[in-house]
Amino acid sequence: MDKDFRHVTRCRICRSTELYRFLDLGFMPVPNGFRKKEELGKKEKKYELCCCFCETCGHVQLSGVVRPQLMFTNYVYIPSTSKVMMNNFSRLAHQAYVAKSLDEFSLVLDIGSNDGSLLTFFKAYGSKVVGIDPAENISKVAELNGIPTEIGLFNLASANKVKKKYGAADVITATNVIAHIDDLYGVFRGVDTLLKKDGLFITEFPYLLDLIDKLEFDTIYHEHLSYFAISPWKFLVEKFGFEICDLERLQIHGGSIRLTHRRKSSHKNKANRIVDYFINLEEERKLNERQTYDLFSQKVIGLKKSLTELIDGLKKQGKRIVGYGAAAKGNVLTNLFNIGRDKLDYIVDSTPYKLGLYTPGMNIPIFAENRLLKDMPDYALILAWNFANEIMEKQKAYKAKGGKFIIPLPSVTII
Ligand code: TYD
Repeated sequence: MDKDFRHVTRCRICRSTELYRFLDLGFMPVPNGFRKKEELGKKEKKYELCCCFCETCGHVQLSGVVRPQLMFTNYVYIPSTSKVMMNNFSRLAHQAYVAKSLDEFSLVLDIGSNDGSLLTFFKAYGSKVVGIDPAENISKVAELNGIPTEIGLFNLASANKVKKKYGAADVITATNVIAHIDDLYGVFRGVDTLLKKDGLFITEFPYLLDLIDKLEFDTIYHEHLSYFAISPWKFLVEKFGFEICDLERLQIHGGSIRLTHRRKSSHKNKANRIVDYFINLEEERKLNERQTYDLFSQKVIGLKKSLTELIDGLKKQGKRIVGYGAAAKGNVLTNLFNIGRDKLDYIVDSTPYKLGLYTPGMNIPIFAENRLLKDMPDYALILAWNFANEIMEKQKAYKAKGGKFIIPLPSVTII
């Protein structure tokens, strides 16, 4: 038995055992497991990566859980290098500020607070803030930025600890983190403990319908235990006495959803048309049927063929190709499609923590973004396709000098 890996036998939301495996990506290293030069000769540990669909409640989830400490204690991903992400956070903070009339007596807690970038906006509105995050390295950065941060995973025990130290929260936020958490019941118990009676719980995560529609298979990796649709999520929310009071689709991360929740008891129950609309949409789009997922898996195989054929053809013509964005998703794509250093000379990335490291599995070196323009390779494969517009805008000069971009998803495109 592997102490770092647990097979999932029951649905994380409804506890059913009816889990249908539809996308088996084999064994892969954890995709944020970047490597130092001196580690390159050592064997990398690989874990099963397979996606399942719960035939009882419709929740899509991985078939196994890698021990979270292994993935999150020393974390390299920060959202704050992206303008798009920061604008998104700014808008979220503004919405909450208006909805709750936040002031200096209010407390905002952010789950998975990373370097504190979302909380800095709440702090600017004068509220008290506290973050909780298991990443020791990045939590230190948050503290240096003036954001009090508790180091740890969010669950009932840590929620009690935070409450004792800081009091109850008016707003709890959790952006791009709920999918990382195995025990969703623990999350809701924690939120229930910490949130004031009339408080708001706001969360954002990539939306399953976008994942399916845009063939975003590379967002399926060990960190993301869940791929949420509204229908199973609503079941979970209601189980813990909450309700969805607002829902908004966002373009970030290839299509996400922002949900605002409150306690059912805090308001008179009224029909929520927007939630019903999405539940109908998910039914219409057959998110509750095997065939949708089988078709998705077939399309992934088709994409592999078209992308690898394009790259092989370009290499035969002697073209130089690099990667753009050492995203975790890029590591899934390169590993699954076997795109190694013989195809991509290197990858450029804006994250200071990733520079000088090598990607897991394929061991492609990572350099700073300015190398692209200096070096002028023929093609840049945008592995962080969710930021394609931001990247192409930033690298206008590369394009003007004749550089080309390849966007891999939803179908291979050259720009
Ligand atoms: P992202 O897609 O946010 O996450 P994940 O790792 O979950 O797949 O990662 C985007 C990567 O792209 C990240 O390493 C930062 C990098 N990036 C750039 O190099 N330049 C940019 O202009 C932007 C916006 C991101």
